[in-house]
Amino acid sequence: MNLWDRIEETVRVIQTKVSEKPRIGIILGTGLGGLGEKIESAQALPYDSVPHFPQSTVEGHKGQLVFGRIHSKPVIVMEGRFHAYEGYSAQEVTYPVRVMRALGADTLIVSNAAGGMNPAFKAADLMVIADHINLMGINPLIGPNDERLGPRFPDMSTPYDERLIASAEEIAREAKIPLHRGVYVAVSGPNLETRAEYRFLREIGADAVGMSTVPEVLVAVHGGMRVLAVSCITDLCIPETLKPASLEEILKVAHRAEPRLTTLISSVIGRL
Ligand code: HPA
Repeated sequence: MNLWDRIEETVRVIQTKVSEKPRIGIILGTGLGGLGEKIESAQALPYDSVPHFPQSTVEGHKGQLVFGRIHSKPVIVMEGRFHAYEGYSAQEVTYPVRVMRALGADTLIVSNAAGGMNPAFKAADLMVIADHINLMGINPLIGPNDERLGPRFPDMSTPYDERLIASAEEIAREAKIPLHRGVYVAVSGPNLETRAEYRFLREIGADAVGMSTVPEVLVAVHGGMRVLAVSCITDLCIPETLKPASLEEILKVAHRAEPRLTTLISSVIGRL
Protein backbone atom coordinates (compact mmCIF):
# COMPACT_ATOMS: atom_id res chain seq x y z
CA MET A 1 0.00 0.00 0.00
CA ASN A 2 1.46 3.41 -0.85
CA LEU A 3 1.94 6.20 1.69
CA TRP A 4 -1.14 8.15 0.61
CA ASP A 5 -3.42 5.11 0.93
CA ARG A 6 -1.98 4.20 4.33
CA ILE A 7 -2.57 7.75 5.59
CA GLU A 8 -6.16 7.64 4.28
CA GLU A 9 -6.81 4.38 6.09
CA THR A 10 -5.31 5.65 9.37
CA VAL A 11 -7.35 8.84 9.14
CA ARG A 12 -10.56 6.90 8.43
CA VAL A 13 -10.08 4.71 11.50
CA ILE A 14 -9.22 7.69 13.75
CA GLN A 15 -12.26 9.59 12.50
CA THR A 16 -14.57 6.73 13.49
CA LYS A 17 -13.32 7.23 17.07
CA VAL A 18 -12.69 10.95 17.31
CA SER A 19 -15.15 13.50 15.98
CA GLU A 20 -13.28 16.78 16.37
CA LYS A 21 -10.85 17.99 13.72
CA PRO A 22 -7.48 18.92 15.30
CA ARG A 23 -5.88 22.21 14.32
CA ILE A 24 -2.59 21.82 16.16
CA GLY A 25 -0.31 18.79 16.24
CA ILE A 26 2.00 18.48 19.22
CA ILE A 27 4.93 16.10 19.76
CA LEU A 28 6.17 15.78 23.33
CA GLY A 29 9.82 14.84 23.73
CA THR A 30 11.73 12.69 26.19
CA GLY A 31 10.64 13.41 29.76
CA LEU A 32 8.44 16.31 28.62
CA GLY A 33 4.98 14.77 28.80
CA GLY A 34 3.52 17.38 31.20
CA LEU A 35 1.44 19.17 28.58
CA GLY A 36 -0.64 16.01 28.36
CA GLU A 37 -2.26 16.93 31.67
CA LYS A 38 -3.46 20.27 30.25
CA ILE A 39 -5.65 18.63 27.61
CA GLU A 40 -9.36 19.12 28.25
CA SER A 41 -11.90 16.48 27.16
CA ALA A 42 -8.94 14.22 26.45
CA GLN A 43 -9.44 11.08 24.45
CA ALA A 44 -6.45 8.74 24.11
CA LEU A 45 -5.72 6.25 21.36
CA PRO A 46 -2.78 3.94 22.14
CA TYR A 47 -0.44 3.66 19.18
CA ASP A 48 -1.15 -0.06 18.93
CA SER A 49 -4.81 0.73 18.19
CA VAL A 50 -3.95 3.00 15.25
CA PRO A 51 -3.38 1.22 11.92
CA HIS A 52 0.07 1.70 10.33
CA PHE A 53 1.49 3.40 13.44
CA PRO A 54 4.90 2.20 14.64
CA GLN A 55 5.20 1.26 18.33
CA SER A 56 7.16 3.29 20.88
CA THR A 57 9.98 1.51 22.76
CA VAL A 58 12.07 4.10 24.57
CA GLU A 59 12.06 5.01 28.28
CA GLY A 60 10.15 8.16 29.23
CA HIS A 61 7.59 7.76 26.45
CA LYS A 62 4.01 6.57 26.81
CA GLY A 63 2.96 5.77 23.28
CA GLN A 64 -0.44 7.24 22.66
CA LEU A 65 -2.24 9.86 20.61
CA VAL A 66 -4.33 12.20 22.71
CA PHE A 67 -7.12 14.31 21.23
CA GLY A 68 -8.78 17.18 23.05
CA ARG A 69 -8.50 20.91 23.61
CA ILE A 70 -5.89 23.24 25.06
CA HIS A 71 -7.17 26.80 25.66
CA SER A 72 -10.20 25.67 23.64
CA LYS A 73 -8.09 24.91 20.54
CA PRO A 74 -8.47 21.38 19.17
CA VAL A 75 -5.17 19.51 19.42
CA ILE A 76 -3.69 16.12 18.63
CA VAL A 77 -0.81 15.24 20.93
CA MET A 78 1.78 12.52 20.46
CA GLU A 79 2.78 11.29 23.89
CA GLY A 80 5.96 9.49 22.93
CA ARG A 81 7.68 9.79 19.60
CA PHE A 82 9.63 7.48 17.35
CA HIS A 83 13.37 7.85 16.93
CA ALA A 84 15.59 6.69 14.10
CA TYR A 85 17.96 5.13 16.68
CA GLU A 86 15.23 2.69 17.68
CA GLY A 87 15.49 1.24 14.20
CA TYR A 88 12.55 3.03 12.58
CA SER A 89 12.94 4.36 9.08
CA ALA A 90 12.69 8.10 8.51
CA GLN A 91 9.26 7.47 6.96
CA GLU A 92 8.07 5.60 10.06
CA VAL A 93 9.39 8.30 12.40
CA THR A 94 7.40 10.94 10.52
CA TYR A 95 4.25 8.98 9.71
CA PRO A 96 2.32 10.54 12.62
CA VAL A 97 3.02 14.02 11.25
CA ARG A 98 1.53 12.99 7.92
CA VAL A 99 -1.54 11.76 9.80
CA MET A 100 -1.82 14.99 11.84
CA ARG A 101 -1.72 16.98 8.61
CA ALA A 102 -4.30 14.75 6.92
CA LEU A 103 -6.60 15.11 9.94
CA GLY A 104 -6.52 18.87 9.44
CA ALA A 105 -3.68 20.20 11.62
CA ASP A 106 -1.89 23.16 10.02
CA THR A 107 0.49 23.85 12.92
CA LEU A 108 3.09 21.55 14.48
CA ILE A 109 4.62 22.17 17.89
CA VAL A 110 7.56 19.97 18.86
CA SER A 111 9.60 19.62 22.03
CA ASN A 112 12.77 17.67 22.61
CA ALA A 113 15.62 17.07 25.02
CA ALA A 114 18.93 18.33 23.70
CA GLY A 115 22.53 18.78 24.69
CA GLY A 116 23.61 22.41 25.05
CA MET A 117 26.80 23.46 23.24
CA ASN A 118 26.40 27.22 23.51
CA PRO A 119 28.47 28.22 26.57
CA ALA A 120 25.72 30.65 27.64
CA PHE A 121 23.31 27.76 28.24
CA LYS A 122 22.59 26.13 31.61
CA ALA A 123 20.97 22.78 32.34
CA ALA A 124 17.14 22.97 32.24
CA ASP A 125 17.19 26.11 30.04
CA LEU A 126 14.80 26.26 27.11
CA MET A 127 15.78 27.12 23.54
CA VAL A 128 13.39 27.95 20.75
CA ILE A 129 14.74 26.47 17.53
CA ALA A 130 15.33 29.16 14.92
CA ASP A 131 16.97 26.87 12.37
CA HIS A 132 18.44 23.39 12.08
CA ILE A 133 21.22 21.32 10.57
CA ASN A 134 20.41 17.79 9.48
CA LEU A 135 23.34 15.47 10.20
CA MET A 136 21.19 12.41 10.86
CA GLY A 137 22.16 10.76 7.61
CA ILE A 138 18.50 10.12 6.86
CA ASN A 139 15.74 12.14 5.26
CA PRO A 140 12.05 11.20 5.24
CA LEU A 141 11.54 12.90 1.88
CA ILE A 142 13.87 10.56 -0.01
CA GLY A 143 12.01 8.34 -2.45
CA PRO A 144 9.18 8.88 -4.91
CA ASN A 145 7.39 12.16 -4.16
CA ASP A 146 3.61 12.24 -3.95
CA GLU A 147 2.65 15.75 -5.06
CA ARG A 148 -0.59 15.45 -3.08
CA LEU A 149 1.53 15.48 0.10
CA GLY A 150 3.95 18.23 -0.91
CA PRO A 151 6.52 19.40 -3.46
CA ARG A 152 9.58 17.44 -4.64
CA PHE A 153 12.00 20.15 -3.52
CA PRO A 154 10.52 21.83 -0.46
CA ASP A 155 11.97 25.20 0.46
CA MET A 156 13.83 25.35 3.80
CA SER A 157 14.58 29.06 4.00
CA THR A 158 12.27 29.43 7.03
CA PRO A 159 11.27 26.00 8.40
CA TYR A 160 10.45 27.55 11.80
CA ASP A 161 7.64 30.09 11.74
CA GLU A 162 8.89 33.56 12.68
CA ARG A 163 5.54 34.60 14.11
CA LEU A 164 5.37 31.55 16.37
CA ILE A 165 8.94 32.18 17.53
CA ALA A 166 8.05 35.82 18.28
CA SER A 167 4.95 34.70 20.18
CA ALA A 168 6.99 32.21 22.25
CA GLU A 169 9.56 34.91 23.02
CA GLU A 170 6.91 37.40 24.05
CA ILE A 171 5.23 34.87 26.35
CA ALA A 172 8.60 33.88 27.82
CA ARG A 173 9.33 37.55 28.59
CA GLU A 174 5.96 38.06 30.25
CA ALA A 175 6.18 34.83 32.26
CA LYS A 176 9.87 35.48 33.11
CA ILE A 177 10.89 32.17 31.54
CA PRO A 178 14.45 32.37 30.21
CA LEU A 179 14.31 31.37 26.55
CA HIS A 180 17.30 31.16 24.23
CA ARG A 181 17.03 31.17 20.46
CA GLY A 182 19.36 28.92 18.54
CA VAL A 183 20.29 26.33 15.95
CA TYR A 184 19.56 22.65 16.58
CA VAL A 185 21.70 19.99 14.96
CA ALA A 186 20.21 16.52 14.61
CA VAL A 187 22.40 13.43 14.79
CA SER A 188 21.35 9.80 14.60
CA GLY A 189 22.45 8.67 18.08
CA PRO A 190 21.98 6.51 20.07
CA ASN A 191 25.38 7.27 21.60
CA LEU A 192 26.03 10.74 22.89
CA GLU A 193 28.79 12.61 21.13
CA THR A 194 32.55 12.61 21.58
CA ARG A 195 34.35 15.79 22.60
CA ALA A 196 35.66 16.12 19.06
CA GLU A 197 32.13 15.85 17.72
CA TYR A 198 30.82 18.53 20.10
CA ARG A 199 33.68 20.80 19.05
CA PHE A 200 32.79 20.18 15.41
CA LEU A 201 29.03 20.66 15.91
CA ARG A 202 29.61 23.95 17.74
CA GLU A 203 32.04 25.07 15.04
CA ILE A 204 29.51 24.52 12.26
CA GLY A 205 26.99 26.79 13.98
CA ALA A 206 24.84 24.66 16.27
CA ASP A 207 23.77 25.69 19.77
CA ALA A 208 22.11 22.40 20.75
CA VAL A 209 22.31 18.79 19.61
CA GLY A 210 19.72 16.04 19.70
CA MET A 211 18.46 12.87 18.05
CA SER A 212 14.99 13.88 16.89
CA THR A 213 12.76 16.66 15.58
CA VAL A 214 14.40 17.34 12.21
CA PRO A 215 12.67 14.46 10.34
CA GLU A 216 9.28 15.54 11.71
CA VAL A 217 9.95 19.18 10.82
CA LEU A 218 10.99 18.26 7.27
CA VAL A 219 7.72 16.39 6.76
CA ALA A 220 5.67 19.17 8.35
CA VAL A 221 7.25 21.80 6.09
CA HIS A 222 6.83 19.49 3.09
CA GLY A 223 3.13 19.27 3.95
CA GLY A 224 2.79 23.04 4.36
CA MET A 225 2.51 23.21 8.15
CA ARG A 226 3.95 26.02 10.24
CA VAL A 227 6.30 24.81 12.93
CA LEU A 228 7.38 25.81 16.42
CA ALA A 229 10.06 23.72 18.14
CA VAL A 230 11.51 24.10 21.63
CA SER A 231 14.48 22.24 23.08
CA CYS A 232 14.99 21.58 26.74
CA ILE A 233 18.73 21.69 27.43
CA THR A 234 19.23 18.59 29.55
CA ASP A 235 23.03 18.45 29.70
CA LEU A 236 25.95 20.67 28.85
CA CYS A 237 28.20 19.56 26.02
CA ILE A 238 31.27 21.77 26.34
CA PRO A 239 34.30 19.72 25.23
CA GLU A 240 36.70 21.18 27.83
CA THR A 241 34.48 20.42 30.82
CA LEU A 242 32.50 17.44 29.52
CA LYS A 243 31.25 15.03 32.16
CA PRO A 244 29.68 11.63 31.45
CA ALA A 245 25.94 12.08 30.83
CA SER A 246 23.36 9.56 32.00
CA LEU A 247 19.82 9.00 30.75
CA GLU A 248 18.67 9.22 34.36
CA GLU A 249 20.18 12.68 34.77
CA ILE A 250 18.81 13.81 31.37
CA LEU A 251 15.29 12.73 32.37
CA LYS A 252 15.64 14.42 35.77
CA VAL A 253 16.62 17.73 34.20
CA ALA A 254 13.85 17.44 31.59
CA HIS A 255 11.42 16.94 34.45
CA ARG A 256 12.69 20.06 36.17
CA ALA A 257 12.19 22.14 33.01
CA GLU A 258 8.85 20.60 32.15
CA PRO A 259 6.52 23.03 34.00
CA ARG A 260 8.11 25.99 32.20
CA LEU A 261 7.91 24.25 28.84
CA THR A 262 4.28 23.37 29.50
CA THR A 263 3.44 26.98 30.40
CA LEU A 264 5.26 28.27 27.33
CA ILE A 265 3.63 25.90 24.85
CA SER A 266 0.13 26.11 26.28
CA SER A 267 0.30 29.92 26.26
CA VAL A 268 1.48 29.94 22.63
CA ILE A 269 -1.52 27.75 21.80
CA GLY A 270 -3.80 30.14 23.68
CA ARG A 271 -2.71 32.96 21.38
CA LEU A 272 -2.92 31.08 18.10
N1 HPA B 1 23.56 14.69 22.59
C1 HPA B 1 24.02 15.14 23.74
N2 HPA B 1 23.28 15.40 24.77
C2 HPA B 1 22.00 15.21 24.67
C3 HPA B 1 21.43 14.76 23.52
C4 HPA B 1 22.26 14.47 22.40
O1 HPA B 1 21.83 14.06 21.33
N3 HPA B 1 20.10 14.69 23.72
C5 HPA B 1 19.87 15.08 24.99
N4 HPA B 1 21.02 15.40 25.56
